Amino acid sequence: MNIVFMGPPGAGKGTQAERIVASYHIPHISTGDAFRAAKEQGTPLGLEAKKFMDQGLLVPDEITNGIVRERLQEKDCETGFLLDGFPRTISQAEALDDMLTGMGKEIDHVIDLHVDRSLLLARLTGRRVCRSCGATYHVLFNPPSQEGVCDKCGGELYQRADDTEEKVGTRLDEYINKTAPLLDYYQAKGKLRQLNGEQDIDAVTEEIHSILRGQAE
Ligand code: AP5
Ligand code: MG
Ligand code: ZN
Repeated sequence: MNIVFMGPPGAGKGTQAERIVASYHIPHISTGDAFRAAKEQGTPLGLEAKKFMDQGLLVPDEITNGIVRERLQEKDCETGFLLDGFPRTISQAEALDDMLTGMGKEIDHVIDLHVDRSLLLARLTGRRVCRSCGATYHVLFNPPSQEGVCDKCGGELYQRADDTEEKVGTRLDEYINKTAPLLDYYQAKGKLRQLNGEQDIDAVTEEIHSILRGQAE
């Protein structure tokens, strides 16, 4: 199963991806996570990506396409994959189509989590992420049992550098200007499934499962 998750910053892509990959045993490919890991390690890619990420801007397409192209060649993608946060521009979507065609594959489902802009700021400024395993929490909507500590691994929870009010504004503008046009792109290909990402976390997961089982309306 080859899946793409779309949606604005804070829509719940990462939260839902963690759950779906555990059920389907496919790799979770998040370009944002890949860039953050490279940043943390101080690699040339990470240093280049940092210039854009720290401002809330998209990283240039050539860089982003390159890391996805390499990742999709890995053996664990043979039985499927879940792309989270890629593609995010029309040019990335075209590059992805070319990569997949070259591999004799195609996307099965593009799932768009729709959340109104007014809710996203609260979701992002209250988000906490585990430094060790990457699990995502929210101080109000999905709190860990002990403040600052990951339920899954005991790791330390931190706040992402781009989850400030100012950066969130830029990220949402980038989404509207560059990523939202992709909805029409995938709609025209008959791949797009949109769902209400404002429901509680379990309800969204259930709806995604229905789509993937081919049972949703
Ligand atoms: P990336 O890491 O992908 O960030 P993003 O798209 O801005 O999305 P987020 O990770 O912020 O949100 P999410 O939808 O995963 O929400 P989450 O599940 O965490 O990208 C970061 C940066 O990297 C970009 O700005 C760019 O610079 C660069 N980049 C990455 N990909 C790129 C690309 N393809 N091209 C160019 N540049 C790229 O949930 C958010 C919060 O809400 C959490 O606290 C969670 O607990 C809570 N929550 C989730 N679901 C619910 C719910 N149903 N109800 C209540 N709370 C909920
Ligand atoms: Mg995410
Ligand atoms: Zn953890």
